[in-house]
Amino acid sequence: MDMGLKNKTALVTGSTKGIGKAIAIELAKEGVNVLINGRNYEEVEQVVNEIKSNFPDTAPQNAAADLVDIEQREALFERFPSVDILVNNMGIYEIMQYEDVDDEIWEKYFRTNVLAANGLSKFYLPAMLKNDFGRIIFIASEEAVMPSGQMPQYAVTKSMLLSLSKSLSKLTKGTEVTVNTIMPGPTLSENVHQIIESIYPDENMTFSDKEKDFMATNLPQSELQRFIRPAEIGRLAAFVCSPYASAFKGSPIRMDGGMVPTIF
Ligand SMILES: NC(=O)c1ccc[n+]([C@@H]2O[C@H](COP(=O)([O-])OP(=O)(O)OC[C@H]3O[C@@H](n4cnc5c(N)ncnc54)[C@H](OP(=O)(O)O)[C@@H]3O)[C@@H](O)[C@H]2O)c1
Repeated sequence: MDMGLKNKTALVTGSTKGIGKAIAIELAKEGVNVLINGRNYEEVEQVVNEIKSNFPDTAPQNAAADLVDIEQREALFERFPSVDILVNNMGIYEIMQYEDVDDEIWEKYFRTNVLAANGLSKFYLPAMLKNDFGRIIFIASEEAVMPSGQMPQYAVTKSMLLSLSKSLSKLTKGTEVTVNTIMPGPTLSENVHQIIESIYPDENMTFSDKEKDFMATNLPQSELQRFIRPAEIGRLAAFVCSPYASAFKGSPIRMDGGMVPTIF
């Protein structure tokens, strides 16, 4: 299916690996010129080159910047003053005991997972409204609506994104601009892959067996009983970016493998 996205420009934050990279690849498949972001210039350049060689009809660019740093964010705005699509994917997460989360950590999570995405949205939304087309997607998590208690400092920030997304969506009334949130469940990023391998060092076990055992032991509520593949989230995000998805307005869109046990 042609998603009608050829020659659009998309900034995908945190796109050197994991879900962000998969979203960038799925958008490039649709002919989108993707701006690749991460803090390490060389790593970003590698992904830009990979996408350029796999999708030669597109023009990916290096948008390396630490998005938590306001000066670096502003320098990025000067280099890329407008985009058709903004995917606020970059985020940090870590299992932590509530008792160990001090104010400094709360603030770091708020600045990284909420304020960076808010700063980018605030900058790019006005031109989208003027053009009567644009897409902003926040990547949250099932933790936004179902905090597990294992990462309170993270869950709070992901709930905030749902609220922010709806508030911004109100500003798009009567336009073809949309602001939505995708809530992935446990997804097999490179980090998660490494964690599973370190839990099961047994070389005679296949990765699939490790994955099955991990899911049954640690995530029994998942109906999928495997990790979601980043490309699955990538394809959903590409659809939400397409002109066919204009009726998603301020929607929390779940692709969580059935982690959330409720109907809504
Ligand atoms: N994986 C999961 O199971 C899962 C489930 C639900 C939701 N999510 C959400 O999905 C998003 C992506 O997760 P992931 O697992 O794919 O992440 P990941 O593999 O850890 O990748 C994070 C990306 O963000 C970049 N990054 C980190 N800090 C940055 C900063 N300050 N400025 C710019 N780039 C930065 C990283 O590159 P550098 O470190 O080189 O900067 C990397 O490209 C996150 O928002 C996460 O909360 C993940």
